[in-house]
Amino acid sequence: MIIGVGMAKPCGLTKPSHLVKPVSATRVAGRYLTHQQGLPQLPVPPLQQTCERYIMALEPIVEVDELKYTKELVEDFQKAGGVGERLQRGLEKRACNTENWLSEWWVRLAYLEYRMPVVVHSSPGLVLPHMNFSDKQGQIRFAAKLIAGVLDFKTMIDNETLPVEYLGGKPLCMNQYYEVLSSCRVPGLKRDSVVNHARSSPSPKHIVVVNNSQFFVLDVYNSDGTPLTVDQLSLQLKRICSSSVAKCTEPVGILTTQHRDSWGRAYINLIKDKTNKESVDAIQRSIFTLCLDGAMPAVSEEMYRSSAAVQMLHGGGTQWNSGNRWFDKTLQFIIGEDGTCGANYEHAPAEGPPIVALIDHVVEYTRKPEMVQPPMVPLPSPKKLHFSITPEIKRDIEEAKQNMNKLAQDLDIRVIMFGHFGKNIPKAYKMSPDAFIQMALQLAYYRMYQRCCATYESASLRMFRLGRTDTIRSTSSASAAFVKSFDDPNKQNAEKVDLMEKAVKAHRSYTNMAINGQAIDRHLLGLKMQAVDDKLSIPDLFKDAAYAKALHYQLSTSQVPSKTDCVMCFGPVVPNGYGVCYNPMNNHINFAVSSFNSCEETNAADLAQAVEDALLDMRKLLEQNPRAKL
Ligand code: COA
Repeated sequence: MIIGVGMAKPCGLTKPSHLVKPVSATRVAGRYLTHQQGLPQLPVPPLQQTCERYIMALEPIVEVDELKYTKELVEDFQKAGGVGERLQRGLEKRACNTENWLSEWWVRLAYLEYRMPVVVHSSPGLVLPHMNFSDKQGQIRFAAKLIAGVLDFKTMIDNETLPVEYLGGKPLCMNQYYEVLSSCRVPGLKRDSVVNHARSSPSPKHIVVVNNSQFFVLDVYNSDGTPLTVDQLSLQLKRICSSSVAKCTEPVGILTTQHRDSWGRAYINLIKDKTNKESVDAIQRSIFTLCLDGAMPAVSEEMYRSSAAVQMLHGGGTQWNSGNRWFDKTLQFIIGEDGTCGANYEHAPAEGPPIVALIDHVVEYTRKPEMVQPPMVPLPSPKKLHFSITPEIKRDIEEAKQNMNKLAQDLDIRVIMFGHFGKNIPKAYKMSPDAFIQMALQLAYYRMYQRCCATYESASLRMFRLGRTDTIRSTSSASAAFVKSFDDPNKQNAEKVDLMEKAVKAHRSYTNMAINGQAIDRHLLGLKMQAVDDKLSIPDLFKDAAYAKALHYQLSTSQVPSKTDCVMCFGPVVPNGYGVCYNPMNNHINFAVSSFNSCEETNAADLAQAVEDALLDMRKLLEQNPRAKL
């Protein structure tokens, strides 16, 4: 049975329009569980279907002889009584015995066993609009409001009153919201883990504030359980700032920027000391961290958002703010003195959309007029977290500093606001805006390199219980035909429009397939993992050069929509690739494009420019063509 294609209405992720209020004051115990139990389980797609679609996905990105060879491997894999059928049965059994056959494997492979530094390579940054302050006082006041806003959102999580989100009219899994506060990644020698203290008793009542690379515990609730007021929070933040005026010379937080194996080793050594262990525990248990940043290098107005993206992704290097973080923390808010504001999050527990929904709420909260504050009750001073630095730890910190600075030098990121149109234009031409943007990316890439590459777009699997993501493969035979024809003077405009429409439709169709659990990538991964679990030799299909090519994503992309005019950003996933994150608003689109300076072939600014040109040229083509009338 082929389900998926054409099943879901082309309708975006629906967030409740007003999150700021009402926040229910009363707990609705059991609401979360009832909702979760009502969600369907992730299906295992039919084997034959995935095999056919895998070959189709390879067509535009591998050579003819490679494809011929892979077809033979696929035939062998899926033949009656073959290894494919055996693995498929194993997967189906796993699906019956688990809440979600994929999610645990996925979190392990994509995050916990991925050993590259979380900084740039895994953790996204989020750039918020420039806020209305420009000094220390403004920074502190804004930070106090932001803390109050997060606690307001947390009330909805604690009370299980968070409004349910929908995609294509179907309710989504809300689990990720319960994983982002009071949680932290913990490094291991070969595999990391994530600890979540939200459900421990008593649950954490503090956040950790980082200022000048020094860490402080700030209790954010009064003894009667009420959250501190904005005035109280401001006063406490002032106390923190005045007791940490000089930058710490041994920034322990920089250790979290290391390759995970190195950090895993350094971690064991770090927490041997009792004081260090207590300090690390306090960070891990905290509801979130708040980084009060120092200055960043001065840049032109045009480059402001790109510089903010650098700040949110990695802090700019040790000279600037990279030491003012604990990158293992699931959620870190970052506030500069100049009005720069955003976040960085560790990816293992959640995707971007829940983080952005929380941040949308917080931003709206900070914009509310301030209420009259009750009289101040004296509070104990926030506690500084101490670390004893042995020569070995000092050596680890020095090594981490050097590696972080190399990484900071290597990352090139460009944030642009494409202001000519947003979702409005594709919608007017009855096309999916996301598919339209993806096709502009395909065109931009093709114009730069005269070839198509494997392209990843994240698709949400949250229609299913504990669902995470699958891959939308944006490069299709239809997209290849479209990009190849676009600048061909021998082709008529009507034909080009036709090819554009077909490419956009093919993309939307793949999207529907993916969000309905029928895409190919996680299924193939599952079959491979099943072979590992069954202690079988890995089938040749997964050792094939075409499989490696299909997974070498030179374009790694994601749409993260929001109500706030912000943009998420992340690094490329391969050395010669690009990371592209975008937020399509109604009348404009925010893009963050990244690449590595060490790769001579790639250039973030060039791709950003090519995307702008492609979007404009695609609109021009539609405008010129009588068939594509609005
Ligand atoms: N004609 C007119 N309007 C159309 C249309 C068409 N043919 N097709 C779609 N639209 C409308 C939709 O109704 C929607 O309207 P809205 O703005 O009122 O909500 C809007 O255009 C957007 O739809 P579309 O552009 O097709 O994309 P989408 O919102 O369905 O999103 C994905 C597509 C893939 C991004 C989404 O399904 C998804 O999976 N999101 C999660 C991704 C994720 O997890 N990213 C983070 C990774 S860290």
